[in-house]
Amino acid sequence: MVERILITVCADCALCKDCAADIKEELRRLRIDHKGRVIVVESECLDECDRPPALKVNGQSISPATPGKLREAVNAQLDS
Ligand code: FES
Repeated sequence: MVERILITVCADCALCKDCAADIKEELRRLRIDHKGRVIVVESECLDECDRPPALKVNGQSISPATPGKLREAVNAQLDS
């Protein structure tokens, strides 16, 4: 079982005006639902500019990220 989940978020494309609301809301919910186990780090370009918004969950890309894909990836890591 994975104790902590590191979510790396490209601040340039995943937190841009067009994507920010949905992604930010899901990140907020995940931090509440999995208190202390989800760590979010904002990063510069993740070299996935062709698949925005770019996010990684414990180093695995889920780009182009959606709130649903993000939650699914986090839950899969926590269940493994
Ligand atoms: S700007 Fe987001 S991956 Fe490059």
